[in-house]
Amino acid sequence: MVKVLLVGNGAREHAIARAMIKSGAELYAVMDKANPGIMELAAKYKIVKSLKSFEELQAFNDVNLAIIGPESPLASGIVDFLEERLNIPTVGPDKSNARIESSKVFCRELMQAENIPGLPRFRTCRNEEDVREFLRELGSLEVAVKPDGLTGGKGVKISGEHLLSEDDIVKYALERIALENQVVIEEKLVGQEFTLQAFTDGMHMSLMPLVRDYKRAQDGDTGPNTGSMGSYSLPDHGLPYLTAKDIEAAREIMKRTLDALKKVNGKPYKGILYGQFMKTRDGVYLIEFNVRFGDPEAMNVLTLLKTNFVDLSWSIVNGTLRSAEFENLGTVCVYLVPKNYPEQPVSGKPLEIPSSLPQEVELYYASVDLKDGKVVTSRSRALALLSKGIQMNEVRNRVYMAVRQVRGQLDYRTDIALEVVEND
Ligand code: AMP
Ligand code: GLY
Repeated sequence: MVKVLLVGNGAREHAIARAMIKSGAELYAVMDKANPGIMELAAKYKIVKSLKSFEELQAFNDVNLAIIGPESPLASGIVDFLEERLNIPTVGPDKSNARIESSKVFCRELMQAENIPGLPRFRTCRNEEDVREFLRELGSLEVAVKPDGLTGGKGVKISGEHLLSEDDIVKYALERIALENQVVIEEKLVGQEFTLQAFTDGMHMSLMPLVRDYKRAQDGDTGPNTGSMGSYSLPDHGLPYLTAKDIEAAREIMKRTLDALKKVNGKPYKGILYGQFMKTRDGVYLIEFNVRFGDPEAMNVLTLLKTNFVDLSWSIVNGTLRSAEFENLGTVCVYLVPKNYPEQPVSGKPLEIPSSLPQEVELYYASVDLKDGKVVTSRSRALALLSKGIQMNEVRNRVYMAVRQVRGQLDYRTDIALEVVEND
């Protein structure tokens, strides 16, 4: 049996764990918070203080292969440590390639230097003059201010939402410059977002089904940004608002970026590449890259994966990737979160999950705590429920039926995938 080490502890990692077990792996897990779902599947696990304390990984030096869930250990060089120090081939990019997510400046400047399409007008700003000059040049105050480093999805501020004047823009930009010496300011794009993920060995790329993700806390895409409240994908692996040309444009941006990374870093990017795109009136733009599966997008795609995930992982690390196959089914994934998430989440409250969920509904643990042997909410998203099938309205009804059976002080969005069933 192939021994696979999984690093991470969210619902995304629960989905990776399940796919690995289904493909015949023996699972070993390192988490910085106990995930009951992963604990149940792992032959051995360790809870560590931080996923960035790489020395702790020595306890697993006899595994054959590793896969990294979240971006932060990737940005800190976990792959370099596992491969160079422990000799464990790892699904995930090394530190230099992980900069495509961990530095927004690196990402935008690489796209510019290599003439990669999908780049909004932007400027790397290092002082107030840079900021004001860029705004003058743009001739507009419609911008996104993006911190250079990782902010857990909470650092980007947008004109009209968080930034209401030129002074607001300058103030936030200077705050970020004080912390990181630089900040990216770019034109604000208007359109519809989508997620395209790919497996890659750095040379070949195998696309996964497209996913629509719902980032805002409340129905109708209102309220604050969250880690995401749910997602869907369709049986034909496309999205209702995308043409073949749009998908090709996104694919081209991803492929050109992989080629550029290999050129500047001298080694191939291997692992998962996640592209977040916006389809605008003028075409498809890249919002950002992530160097790992999306959460919840991992659930949408891994539940459909037909290719053996262990074999696929070997082909990623060996540079022999061919295309992965997915079932032609649609998926709907809904997150249950503590009441008042994300601003003032009610933590420590019991979660009652029915012992038998409706058939064809999968449950993924995200962030929960154990108190007196009971599962309780934490300050982050609690669990995700997913269903799959051919008829999207049935899939959607099934997952919401299950959502309503979970008891606790919880919130969820009621409009995940509503746009597809309304148009049926
Ligand atoms: P990110 O942390 O880069 O994923 O950004 C968080 C959110 O900010 C994205 O999901 C987008 O909705 C929004 N965003 C980022 N960049 C832009 C942009 N140039 N124009 C409009 N919205 C953006
Ligand atoms: N679903 C958004 C993300 O994983 O970043």
